[in-house]
Amino acid sequence: MKDRRPDAVAVARLLRQRVEMGAGPLFLEGLSREEAIALAEAGGRPAPRPERPGTVPPSPTARPLPVLPESYERLRDAALACTRCRLSETRTQVVFSDGAVDARLVVVGEAPGANEDATGLPFVGAAGQFLDLLLASVDLSRRDTVYICNVLKCRPPGNRNPLPDEIEACAPWLEKQLELVSPRALLAVGTFAAQSLTGKQQPLGRLRGSVHAYRGLPVVVTYHPAALLRNAGWTRAFWDDLQLLREVLDGA
Ligand code: URA
Repeated sequence: MKDRRPDAVAVARLLRQRVEMGAGPLFLEGLSREEAIALAEAGGRPAPRPERPGTVPPSPTARPLPVLPESYERLRDAALACTRCRLSETRTQVVFSDGAVDARLVVVGEAPGANEDATGLPFVGAAGQFLDLLLASVDLSRRDTVYICNVLKCRPPGNRNPLPDEIEACAPWLEKQLELVSPRALLAVGTFAAQSLTGKQQPLGRLRGSVHAYRGLPVVVTYHPAALLRNAGWTRAFWDDLQLLREVLDGA
């Protein structure tokens, strides 16, 4: 008789992952063993429902992810093929990251813009160049010490704000990405990154100035570099935040 243990392992991993992600219950009643295993192998994805004419299909955010790879390269490859939310229909490409995979610092931004969507790299426009300049002022660079990514891996059409279900759908990628890069600290730039990483729905101004935590990692919060380009008066505050970050990185 065929050894079924690997199938049972896959089902157990799926169920454990669903619990970790806070997903709702999975009802297997009425399914045969083969159907349950096929469902587990498909990451618990339900069969696509026919669309009603004239409606915008909702993002399939209820979908559990297939078990996330433990290797960075495989995680990246899986993310590059992601179709978990509506943004996969309008993006040019997934923008996963840039910088050093063994970095001490991970900078987390909001979402790719037009330049990033075109190149596949985060923070390559004017805001990104300004960010590089500011990081260089405290001797940090994506060449060796910094890894950069975003809360959303795909560009929202017209650079609109990320929607809550898009942030939720993308969160497991970010979470695993941060776990595998395993930096010493995180720098959240802008409100969406700050609120996502701290889990606090407070204005950025209230979140700045103290060290928060994300899954055991220290998080420093600051303004988005695009906001600094619009409001030069905030550059001093950004500088202060970089000093706090420096202290965190130096273990002060
Ligand atoms: N703004 C962001 O938040 N991320 C990018 O990658 C580019 C602009």
